[in-house]
Amino acid sequence: MCGIVGYIGWQEAAPVLLKGLKRLEYRGYDSAGIALLNGTISVMKQKGNVSGLETDTAKLREKMPGATIGIGHTRWATHGDPSDRNAHPHLNAAGDIAVIHNGIIENYSALKQELISEGYQFISDTDSEVLVHLIDWLWKKDASLDLESATRTALRHVDGAYGLCVISSREPDRIVVARKGSPLVIGIGEGEFFIASDAAPIVEHTNKVVYLSDGELAVVTKEGYSVKTIENVEQEKLVTELDFSLEKIEKGGFEHFMLKEIFEQPSVMHDVMRGRVRLEEGRVCLGGIEDYLDRLKQAKRIVICACGTSWHAGLIGEYLIEEFARIPVEVDYASEFRYRNPIVGKDDVVIVISQSGETADTLAALRTAKEKGALVMGICNVVGSTIARETLCGMYTHAGPEVGVASTKAFTAQVIMLYMLAMALSKGRTISHDEIILNLTELADLPAKADRILNLDSQIRDIAERFKDAKNFLYLGRGYNFPVALEGALKLKEISYIHAEGYPAAEMKHGPIALIDEDMPVIFIATRDSTYAKILSNIEEVRSRKGRVIAIASEGDKEVARLAEHVIYIPQASGPITPLLTVIPLQLLAYHIATLRGCNVDRPRNLAKSVTVE
Ligand code: F6R
Repeated sequence: MCGIVGYIGWQEAAPVLLKGLKRLEYRGYDSAGIALLNGTISVMKQKGNVSGLETDTAKLREKMPGATIGIGHTRWATHGDPSDRNAHPHLNAAGDIAVIHNGIIENYSALKQELISEGYQFISDTDSEVLVHLIDWLWKKDASLDLESATRTALRHVDGAYGLCVISSREPDRIVVARKGSPLVIGIGEGEFFIASDAAPIVEHTNKVVYLSDGELAVVTKEGYSVKTIENVEQEKLVTELDFSLEKIEKGGFEHFMLKEIFEQPSVMHDVMRGRVRLEEGRVCLGGIEDYLDRLKQAKRIVICACGTSWHAGLIGEYLIEEFARIPVEVDYASEFRYRNPIVGKDDVVIVISQSGETADTLAALRTAKEKGALVMGICNVVGSTIARETLCGMYTHAGPEVGVASTKAFTAQVIMLYMLAMALSKGRTISHDEIILNLTELADLPAKADRILNLDSQIRDIAERFKDAKNFLYLGRGYNFPVALEGALKLKEISYIHAEGYPAAEMKHGPIALIDEDMPVIFIATRDSTYAKILSNIEEVRSRKGRVIAIASEGDKEVARLAEHVIYIPQASGPITPLLTVIPLQLLAYHIATLRGCNVDRPRNLAKSVTVE
């Protein structure tokens, strides 16, 4: 996720900014840059890490000795590849305004067209560059404005999320900052102020901070700061004292990245859908595949290739696309696909799914499919990754960097992408406008439901306490929740080293039932959907063999409570939506079992975050 740092005061700004950017490295980024203000503005920015910026910044410091105002940014690409020109800060043509921005400007395309028609030229592919030109344009149109009011007016034209810092050599004594949906904090020092997207770059300078709220804009000078709403209403802000360690801040106050990422899921769900789910129009807008949508709809068959957790997301994608769009789908392990001389050709669409975009097997499957003439589309999280570059078209999940080795938020983001894809493929063909509205409404309700599940964390930890010493686990689900059973088992085994298997519940009687005894915990995903009655019978079968049943059930279901030793209730949802909810308690259960057993969940043995070897 992008990071912001700003400084105004009596120290030389460049070293403060560079150190701050290093503190933000844990968030993940692909390029970095700083702008210094000392009479004029100078910018250094480049693809790569902050250390790479250091030598150039030394030159910048020579050029601008004694600059005591500056802003810095680490970018995690969303719009436009990681590159020097897409890195922040962005400048206006005159070079007298500089902007750094976190978040996504949803209506950037319309704003960009308007600005181009006013004669503005864009250097980058980012949505963020729109902001600097918009401020410039509004300021030029109305000379009575100042940096603060021009920024405020610009933000009124903007839809989407932002945390931003603006400096201008026309008003060289201030930094204007604003927040909506993307955090910003002001650190209060002695005659100096620090600005950052989280407290990590601030703690070593001061423990007094002010958190901006959504819809607030602040003007920071070296004498003080004032905060108003975007509507220009003054705000009294509370000064908070930080009592966090740096390490805790990096993990957002959580013990591990994995837990942080599990808890990020409601906001990731918003980010994945942002600007794409157009409820009022009853459609989804998937920019990266728009030009190919007709060809995708005409596909004779879709083949999904992926590995691990991404493969599980692909299985749910199969159910979604077949149910809604009625296009036949096959899901293959990427490693199998490449070695089995698959039958694919120009009438097929191959979708490769990868969080990292660098998985060797998935990349090889992509190349095989391309050689055979299929249209290859990607679903990736890392912008500009090899898979993203080599696919003909695709969509980014916008889940932010995933640091924990066990994939969690990337999975939910992938499933939402596949759900939106299923809607796009169905529109005008297989389901009615009203059905699409209904489905998208349910999708939009997801983050609030996910939040409610996260509130069950302590109940899930108690269950983990009881079962942490088990030697084996069985995970059973049907329909949409069969892939979730696989995913729950994978999460447990990879971080706790307990043997776990996932099965379609009905398959149990064909073999695994032999394993059931009083020492075998069996996790049933038994939500109220079309397979509910069948799964109740499967629970009875396990119970009668003394298996210990933990059930994930729909709120209000008393029947399951009668049969299971422990029940984790999740909010009601229709079948196709449930995997996005049922997976969350399973992620938490795996996490707690692993940590109670003393395992290092962020660095599980034998595993790497990105598997770039065969
Ligand atoms: C499991 C996990 C792995 C990955 C797999 C594919 O928690 O993280 O199974 O899902 O290695 O990785 P990507 O999605 O990067 O291709």
